Amino acid sequence: MSLEPALEYVRDRIQTRPTLALVLGSGLGSLVEAASGTTVLPTTDIPGYPTSTVVGHAGKLVFGRLSGRDVVFLQGRLHRYEGHDLEKTTFPIRLMAAMGVRRLLLTNAAGGVNPGFPPGTLMWITSHINWSFETPTLPETARTPVYDRAWTREAIGVAEHLGIQTRQGTYAWTRGPQYETPAEVRALAALGADAVGMSTVPEALVANSLGMRVLGLSTITNAAAGLGEEPLNHEEVLETGQRVQQELQRLVMGVVA
Ligand code: HPA
Repeated sequence: MSLEPALEYVRDRIQTRPTLALVLGSGLGSLVEAASGTTVLPTTDIPGYPTSTVVGHAGKLVFGRLSGRDVVFLQGRLHRYEGHDLEKTTFPIRLMAAMGVRRLLLTNAAGGVNPGFPPGTLMWITSHINWSFETPTLPETARTPVYDRAWTREAIGVAEHLGIQTRQGTYAWTRGPQYETPAEVRALAALGADAVGMSTVPEALVANSLGMRVLGLSTITNAAAGLGEEPLNHEEVLETGQRVQQELQRLVMGVVA
């Protein structure tokens, strides 16, 4: 799918040239409220942009200023489990790269696999496990590490400075849409995963291969299947997102500044 029509559509409507993009995970979309002077482009209006189907995942590109910088938010990312292939799933990333974005902050909601990471934990992604065994077509071989070490170190420093506790860990990508079974969660724990979720990895791989710097931040919204008291549900994911949003907002604003 050519990016040209989408690129032209955006350029005709946006005066700024953001070099930093933030992808907002489910329940974390309210981060855009911290931005000023926003222009919203519903993704359904953008030519060639794949349509999203998940409740609570309104597809919007929001351009604005955050902590004194021009940024673009992607609210309502695309997921592989919605039936898009990985080329479509990563369309927004390729579009943002074509727009001139050089740094990508990927946020997500994830299940905690590491028992030391209870709901509410903020975790920098230092590495991932691709448990879907599917890879997007990459324009270049991905560089390693995928998650920018220097940027992550800086972000940890920002968190410390703000008095916000963060952790670091490995994110496992499962394709979904079903949550993992307890047996799968035990397997993921044995493989070294700290968190599990259904996004981020394809975006990180594509962004990295396009030469963008990538920072990954998971909000642990629930204990992964079999580790918590209650059965998993999407409401808990959204509720925890709500609960941590202020802290997350402060942290992200600090990192952007
Ligand atoms: N598993 C997979 N994806 C998720 C989870 C989970 O437990 N929580 C939020 N996204």
